[in-house]
Amino acid sequence: MSLNKELIDKIITVTSRAAISCHKFVGKNDKNNADRAATDTMRNEINKLKINGEVVIGEGELDEAPMLFIGEKLGAGGNLDIDIAVDPLEGTNFVAKNLPGALSVISIAEKGNLFNAPETYMDKLAVSNKVPNDATDLDFPLEKNIKNLSDSLNKDIKDINVCLLNRPRHIKIIDELKQMNVKMKLISDGDVSGALMVTDEKYNVDLFLGIGGGPEGVLAASALDAYGCKFQGRFIFNSDRDISRAKQMGIKDLKKKYNLKEIIRGDSIFCATGITSGDLVDGIDVKDNMYTTQTLVTHKGSNMCNIVIREDTIKT
Ligand code: FBP
Repeated sequence: MSLNKELIDKIITVTSRAAISCHKFVGKNDKNNADRAATDTMRNEINKLKINGEVVIGEGELDEAPMLFIGEKLGAGGNLDIDIAVDPLEGTNFVAKNLPGALSVISIAEKGNLFNAPETYMDKLAVSNKVPNDATDLDFPLEKNIKNLSDSLNKDIKDINVCLLNRPRHIKIIDELKQMNVKMKLISDGDVSGALMVTDEKYNVDLFLGIGGGPEGVLAASALDAYGCKFQGRFIFNSDRDISRAKQMGIKDLKKKYNLKEIIRGDSIFCATGITSGDLVDGIDVKDNMYTTQTLVTHKGSNMCNIVIREDTIKT
């Protein structure tokens, strides 16, 4: 059995219900309870599916996360073995502070096809499918990436747009982009969305880069695969603990640069439901206990790629 339409509908329900469950925490300045609600609901909903699932990207590891931890087995059984990557609440600050862009996110692939990653930072790069594969690279100097983008997209450097997290660790990159007169979209959080900005010209982002969460990198990569975009990531292992966990997970080369096909392969489903409205999807709309959710869905089948924004109405 493959990842079929019926399963896609069920996965949309998983992220929709997770999003709905933390909606009551929007603007309550309570990141932990918002995250707990989304995590709890997502886990319950996945456990209803007839799958043999295993969390490969989750809320942490067993000693730090009681639910949706890496290695947790999920699902009601069946003959479909799948890997699951989750971020029940992507943008805890967005929910806590009632800001745009909070999402509930999941990606699934057949067993062995989704990267099993520790919870560390990742240096990332993403560009659209309009950019030739050899034009950009995580290892190129920034100036070379920008010049190559300007040539391949036939745009002046002043019109190139780069999206990255606004963090002190990026100050050198930000200064360099400023010197080159490149436009920046400096996001405060939410780099799954940030990376997905390269998928459509309407977002006006030519390059996504910088250091953010590794799990968020893997999730973004799985959607970018369906869009035929380029993604590269390199995990950053700063502490002895991170290094020993990476080794336990079978990562031998700690400095390896991963291309998209090494992160996700084959058939996959990615769903991101909006909690608060953002660039990708609208947030939850509530009227008389009826919740309308919007979900960005990608399905990378062996012969099909299907990208839709789905609206669902759920009564709770
Ligand atoms: P949370 O929802 O877990 O708070 O993550 C938000 C986020 O902005 C991610 O999108 C991003 O990958 C990561 O945090 C960046 O981490 P940091 O805030 O430590 O720079």
